[in-house]
Amino acid sequence: LEATEEVTQLTRDDLCALDASDPIAAVRGEFVLPAGLLYLDGNSLGALPRAALDRVIAVTRDEWGQDLIRNWRGGARWWDRPSELGARLAPLLGARPDEVIVCDSTSINLFKVITAALAMRPGRRAIVSDPNSFPSDLYILESVADMLGHELRLVDCRGPGLDAALDGDAAALVLSHVDYVTAEVEDMAGATLKAHEAGALAVWDVSHSVGAIPVNLGATDVDLAVGCTYKYLNGGPGSPAFVFAAQRLQAEVRQPLSGWNAHARPFSFERDFVAAPGVERFRTGTPPMLAYAALEAALEIWGGVDLAAVFEKGGRLGDLFLELVEQRLADPDLRALSPREAKRRGSHVAYRHPRARELIADLDALGVLADYREAGVMRFGLAPLYLRYVDVWDAVGLLGQALAG
Ligand SMILES: Cc1ncc(COP(=O)(O)O)c(C=O)c1O
Repeated sequence: LEATEEVTQLTRDDLCALDASDPIAAVRGEFVLPAGLLYLDGNSLGALPRAALDRVIAVTRDEWGQDLIRNWRGGARWWDRPSELGARLAPLLGARPDEVIVCDSTSINLFKVITAALAMRPGRRAIVSDPNSFPSDLYILESVADMLGHELRLVDCRGPGLDAALDGDAAALVLSHVDYVTAEVEDMAGATLKAHEAGALAVWDVSHSVGAIPVNLGATDVDLAVGCTYKYLNGGPGSPAFVFAAQRLQAEVRQPLSGWNAHARPFSFERDFVAAPGVERFRTGTPPMLAYAALEAALEIWGGVDLAAVFEKGGRLGDLFLELVEQRLADPDLRALSPREAKRRGSHVAYRHPRARELIADLDALGVLADYREAGVMRFGLAPLYLRYVDVWDAVGLLGQALAG
């Protein structure tokens, strides 16, 4: 798949053969995938794991239905689920089990971690980020900056402006690991180092990288991170998000939404707040247990797969998509936005086209679900757990039909 010649000569049968020898091909069977649909939107909402469906029914019927409130601390021990699922996620983040907690949404978690980071750098008044970050992240940063009288500095984090923005007034650098439009991977180690050299904390949003590419929060010395679980982790619509807090910061970090779940002794209902000792202090209120049930089942899938094989397949699916579009579709208006090199790319590919919105609607009618993003961008998610090489062949063929009108 690497050399152009090889791809030119590929046939649909070759891709079926590649699927037959795919070491993780069997994982596809663990998902509910509607017949006749090519689902290329797992970068927005992952497919439904069969076990998640069963688990939600079982938790509802047996735990909620039978043992009721006993389950919080006895029985199924619902109270422990946020830290248990955090520990389960840790290998996908290159983190220690006690550095991750599953709770709230990504936006809420970003509010908590950026406010916590700013409090750890008193006297510094600037938040540095990139204007191409996911809009919700920018809205949250902007509102925190307004609330605290800080300055939000938006600079191209790959350009020379980053060094200037990271001056003695910079409290935190907040970046996305994978660009939500282009899928370009940011240099986590390099940017974190720059932030630290400037005396700032490094905060990352890994929503588009967790489960798609290797994430090494520990090895890259990241301070705080957030991410969602409904994309490549397949936790379901609105499934709980997560916070990573490096162990070395946990004793001193304090977040502002310190509800009773973040208390060291939540069930003693003390008048005064005392933060829980570890990453538990990032919890807020009562966790939605039916959503945790779906996520728990979805995360169990990762325990049975070779992560290196998953990430390698994601890269190859992207290479194949980009290559086949070049080879099979001659449309001068179609412009790839994603890097060609697999290791600089997340697990989706994006294209700009003047008729992008219409093409996505036409693809939907042809049985390909992908998504449209402003302005004029088509995104094709290539979730390696359940997508086959032959699906890429077929999707590119149908994109060709859509382009031909
Ligand atoms: C990179 C990124 N950050 C944050 C969010 C917002 O997440 P939530 O809706 O869980 O707050 C998203 C949602 O897609 C995202 O892609």
